[in-house]
Amino acid sequence: MYVCVCHAVTDRQIREAAAGGARTLKDLRRDLNVTRDCGRCASCARDCLAEACSRNASANETLCQAA
Ligand code: FES
Repeated sequence: MYVCVCHAVTDRQIREAAAGGARTLKDLRRDLNVTRDCGRCASCARDCLAEACSRNASANETLCQAA
């Protein structure tokens, strides 16, 4: 799904950015140009990033518990 239409950024790209260390909207702007033009994607991008970070945290906890 496209999150940022102006820069053709998808939710998948945001999840990948989160896996690569992106934690804030500013990180997404720097890495993917999200919110750089009209800014309408800000809310959706923030939600998508929060969800991705949450999933990554849960996955890391699972890995830590397995070790
Ligand atoms: S939709 Fe992202 S800057 Fe316009």
